[in-house]
Amino acid sequence: MEPQEIASFNDSLSRCLASEDFLDRFYELFVGSSASVEELFRDTDFARQKRMLRSSLYMMVMVVEGDDDARHYLERVAERHGEADLDIPATMYDLWLDSLVRAVSERDPEWSDGTEALWRKMMSQGIEMMRSYQ
Ligand code: HEM
Repeated sequence: MEPQEIASFNDSLSRCLASEDFLDRFYELFVGSSASVEELFRDTDFARQKRMLRSSLYMMVMVVEGDDDARHYLERVAERHGEADLDIPATMYDLWLDSLVRAVSERDPEWSDGTEALWRKMMSQGIEMMRSYQ
């Protein structure tokens, strides 16, 4: 991604995280997107889960920027979701991304179609890495 695109993404991410219920809204949409997703999060501590997701979003940016430590972090997250552990089906990543983009559309006051394209582009590398552990 171009530095200008990364900067615009970071601005959108900051605006979303400034909205106090952005991560709650994301999990509300994601958990509501399918009974299987709901089942997987049945015993989850969402306060912790939201902290982990916030970190992962920053790590996604650093992976795109070529940071090795961030890539290793995301590889561990990918292993956790892979077939030897949580065994998340590859199709659930579409639900994850659609829920995320929708939460952004509702919480970023400067939302536009361009914002959606930026989020999808920024998440694609990390999601491909996660899917490759299936
Ligand atoms: C790129 C997309 C995703 C990212 C960045 C992500 C990130 C994370 C992180 C950081 C954790 C915490 C890991 C730990 O405890 O060490 C986690 C846990 C988890 N994720 Fe994901 N995740 C993604 C996609 C998904 C999808 C598609 C599902 C499907 C349902 C899913 C289900 C779960 C579950 C069930 C847990 C464990 C919750 C618990 O501890 O109760 N994740 N995820």
